[in-house]
Amino acid sequence: MAIEIHPMTIDDYDEVIELWKTSEGVGLSDADTRRSINLFLQRNPNLSLVARDDERLVGAVLCGHDGRRGYLHHLAVARPYRMQNIGSTLAEGCLERLRLEGIHKCHLFVYEQNYHAIAFWKKTGWVQRLDLVLMSHEIRHG
Ligand SMILES: CC(C)(COP(=O)(O)OP(=O)(O)OC[C@H]1O[C@@H](n2cnc3c(N)ncnc32)[C@H](O)[C@@H]1OP(=O)(O)O)[C@@H](O)C(=O)NCCC(=O)NCCS
Repeated sequence: MAIEIHPMTIDDYDEVIELWKTSEGVGLSDADTRRSINLFLQRNPNLSLVARDDERLVGAVLCGHDGRRGYLHHLAVARPYRMQNIGSTLAEGCLERLRLEGIHKCHLFVYEQNYHAIAFWKKTGWVQRLDLVLMSHEIRHG
Protein backbone atom coordinates (compact mmCIF):
# COMPACT_ATOMS: atom_id res chain seq x y z
CA MET A 1 0.00 0.00 0.00
CA ALA A 2 1.49 3.33 -1.05
CA ILE A 3 0.27 5.98 1.36
CA GLU A 4 1.26 9.49 0.37
CA ILE A 5 1.47 12.47 2.72
CA HIS A 6 0.67 15.94 1.35
CA PRO A 7 0.15 19.40 2.81
CA MET A 8 -3.57 19.99 3.40
CA THR A 9 -5.28 22.51 1.13
CA ILE A 10 -8.80 23.86 1.26
CA ASP A 11 -9.64 21.56 -1.65
CA ASP A 12 -9.29 18.66 0.82
CA TYR A 13 -11.96 20.18 3.09
CA ASP A 14 -15.00 18.06 2.14
CA GLU A 15 -13.15 14.79 2.64
CA VAL A 16 -11.36 15.99 5.78
CA ILE A 17 -14.55 17.15 7.51
CA GLU A 18 -16.20 13.82 6.64
CA LEU A 19 -13.28 11.95 8.22
CA TRP A 20 -13.43 14.11 11.36
CA LYS A 21 -17.21 13.71 11.64
CA THR A 22 -16.86 9.94 11.60
CA SER A 23 -13.85 9.81 13.95
CA GLU A 24 -14.60 9.32 17.64
CA GLY A 25 -12.58 11.65 19.81
CA VAL A 26 -12.60 14.57 17.36
CA GLY A 27 -14.72 17.45 18.66
CA LEU A 28 -15.91 19.82 15.94
CA SER A 29 -17.02 23.43 16.45
CA ASP A 30 -17.51 26.72 14.63
CA ALA A 31 -13.72 26.79 14.30
CA ASP A 32 -14.04 23.96 11.77
CA THR A 33 -16.22 25.55 9.09
CA ARG A 34 -14.73 25.75 5.60
CA ARG A 35 -14.09 29.48 6.16
CA SER A 36 -12.35 28.91 9.51
CA ILE A 37 -10.19 26.08 8.19
CA ASN A 38 -9.29 28.17 5.16
CA LEU A 39 -8.13 30.99 7.46
CA PHE A 40 -6.18 28.51 9.58
CA LEU A 41 -4.42 27.05 6.51
CA GLN A 42 -3.57 30.54 5.24
CA ARG A 43 -2.11 31.56 8.60
CA ASN A 44 -0.15 28.31 8.85
CA PRO A 45 0.90 27.40 5.30
CA ASN A 46 2.26 23.89 4.61
CA LEU A 47 2.01 22.67 8.21
CA SER A 48 -1.26 20.70 8.17
CA LEU A 49 -1.14 17.32 6.43
CA VAL A 50 -3.34 14.72 4.80
CA ALA A 51 -2.62 11.06 4.00
CA ARG A 52 -3.98 9.54 0.80
CA ASP A 53 -4.16 5.95 -0.38
CA ASP A 54 -4.28 6.53 -4.11
CA GLU A 55 -7.09 9.08 -4.35
CA ARG A 56 -8.76 8.20 -1.06
CA LEU A 57 -8.20 10.50 1.92
CA VAL A 58 -7.32 8.25 4.88
CA GLY A 59 -5.81 10.63 7.44
CA ALA A 60 -5.61 14.29 8.37
CA VAL A 61 -4.16 16.62 10.99
CA LEU A 62 -4.19 20.36 11.54
CA CYS A 63 -0.92 21.97 12.59
CA GLY A 64 -0.05 25.56 13.33
CA HIS A 65 2.05 27.78 15.55
CA ASP A 66 1.85 31.26 17.03
CA GLY A 67 5.57 32.00 16.65
CA ARG A 68 6.18 30.54 20.08
CA ARG A 69 4.59 27.09 20.44
CA GLY A 70 3.16 24.63 17.96
CA TYR A 71 -0.29 23.05 18.16
CA LEU A 72 -1.80 19.93 16.62
CA HIS A 73 -5.56 19.49 16.26
CA HIS A 74 -7.89 16.76 15.04
CA LEU A 75 -5.46 14.01 14.08
CA ALA A 76 -7.61 11.23 12.63
CA VAL A 77 -7.04 8.10 10.56
CA ALA A 78 -9.87 6.22 8.80
CA ARG A 79 -10.68 3.02 10.71
CA PRO A 80 -9.52 0.47 8.10
CA TYR A 81 -6.17 2.25 7.96
CA ARG A 82 -5.39 2.43 11.66
CA MET A 83 -2.38 0.71 13.29
CA GLN A 84 -0.33 1.09 10.10
CA ASN A 85 1.76 4.01 11.33
CA ILE A 86 -0.22 6.60 9.37
CA GLY A 87 -1.17 8.60 12.47
CA SER A 88 2.40 8.66 13.76
CA THR A 89 3.75 9.59 10.31
CA LEU A 90 1.34 12.53 10.10
CA ALA A 91 2.21 13.74 13.62
CA GLU A 92 5.96 13.36 13.01
CA GLY A 93 5.63 15.21 9.71
CA CYS A 94 4.06 18.13 11.54
CA LEU A 95 6.77 18.15 14.22
CA GLU A 96 9.47 18.20 11.56
CA ARG A 97 7.77 21.11 9.81
CA LEU A 98 7.51 22.99 13.12
CA ARG A 99 11.19 22.25 13.81
CA LEU A 100 12.13 23.81 10.46
CA GLU A 101 10.21 26.95 11.51
CA GLY A 102 12.24 27.21 14.72
CA ILE A 103 9.53 25.98 17.09
CA HIS A 104 10.79 24.07 20.13
CA LYS A 105 7.62 22.60 21.65
CA CYS A 106 4.20 21.50 20.46
CA HIS A 107 0.97 21.05 22.43
CA LEU A 108 -2.32 19.30 21.70
CA PHE A 109 -5.67 18.75 23.39
CA VAL A 110 -7.18 15.31 24.02
CA TYR A 111 -10.52 14.53 25.67
CA GLU A 112 -9.85 13.12 29.12
CA GLN A 113 -11.71 9.89 28.30
CA ASN A 114 -10.14 9.33 24.88
CA TYR A 115 -7.99 6.59 26.34
CA HIS A 116 -6.97 5.14 22.93
CA ALA A 117 -5.66 8.48 21.72
CA ILE A 118 -3.84 9.10 25.01
CA ALA A 119 -2.18 5.67 24.65
CA PHE A 120 -1.25 6.51 21.05
CA TRP A 121 0.26 9.88 22.00
CA LYS A 122 2.27 8.37 24.87
CA LYS A 123 3.54 5.60 22.58
CA THR A 124 4.73 8.19 20.09
CA GLY A 125 6.71 10.28 22.58
CA TRP A 126 4.22 12.82 23.91
CA VAL A 127 4.12 13.63 27.62
CA GLN A 128 0.86 14.09 29.49
CA ARG A 129 0.95 17.33 31.52
CA LEU A 130 -0.42 16.87 35.02
CA ASP A 131 0.66 20.36 36.09
CA LEU A 132 -1.70 22.26 33.77
CA VAL A 133 -5.45 22.82 33.50
CA LEU A 134 -6.96 23.99 30.21
CA MET A 135 -9.01 27.18 30.59
CA SER A 136 -11.10 28.83 27.88
CA HIS A 137 -13.10 32.03 27.42
CA GLU A 138 -15.75 32.75 24.79
CA ILE A 139 -15.23 35.91 22.71
CA ARG A 140 -18.56 37.36 21.65
CA HIS A 141 -19.17 38.70 18.16
CA GLY A 142 -22.01 40.96 17.12
C1 LIG B 1 -5.31 8.02 17.38
C2 LIG B 1 -5.17 7.65 15.91
C3 LIG B 1 -4.96 8.91 15.08
C4 LIG B 1 -3.93 6.74 15.76
O1 LIG B 1 -3.65 6.55 14.38
P1 LIG B 1 -2.95 5.21 13.84
O2 LIG B 1 -2.57 5.47 12.43
O3 LIG B 1 -3.82 4.04 14.12
O4 LIG B 1 -1.67 5.12 14.77
P2 LIG B 1 -0.24 4.45 14.39
O5 LIG B 1 -0.49 3.23 13.57
O6 LIG B 1 0.65 5.49 13.80
O7 LIG B 1 0.29 4.05 15.83
C5 LIG B 1 1.53 4.51 16.37
C6 LIG B 1 1.79 3.76 17.66
O8 LIG B 1 0.73 3.99 18.57
C7 LIG B 1 0.11 2.75 18.93
N1 LIG B 1 -1.34 2.93 18.96
C8 LIG B 1 -2.13 3.35 17.97
N2 LIG B 1 -3.42 3.32 18.37
C9 LIG B 1 -3.41 2.84 19.63
C10 LIG B 1 -4.43 2.56 20.56
N3 LIG B 1 -5.71 2.76 20.26
N4 LIG B 1 -4.08 2.07 21.79
C11 LIG B 1 -2.78 1.85 22.08
N5 LIG B 1 -1.75 2.10 21.23
C12 LIG B 1 -2.07 2.60 20.03
C13 LIG B 1 0.49 1.78 17.82
O9 LIG B 1 0.52 0.45 18.29
C14 LIG B 1 1.86 2.27 17.43
O10 LIG B 1 2.84 1.76 18.31
P3 LIG B 1 3.99 0.76 17.77
O11 LIG B 1 4.76 1.57 16.77
O12 LIG B 1 4.76 0.40 18.97
O13 LIG B 1 3.25 -0.37 17.14
C15 LIG B 1 -6.39 6.87 15.39
O14 LIG B 1 -6.66 5.79 16.27
C16 LIG B 1 -7.66 7.72 15.29
O15 LIG B 1 -7.93 8.31 14.25
N6 LIG B 1 -8.45 7.77 16.39
C17 LIG B 1 -9.73 8.53 16.37
C18 LIG B 1 -9.51 10.02 16.38
C19 LIG B 1 -8.80 10.49 17.62
O16 LIG B 1 -9.12 10.15 18.74
N7 LIG B 1 -7.77 11.34 17.39
C20 LIG B 1 -6.99 11.95 18.43
C21 LIG B 1 -7.47 13.32 18.69
S1 LIG B 1 -6.49 14.08 19.97
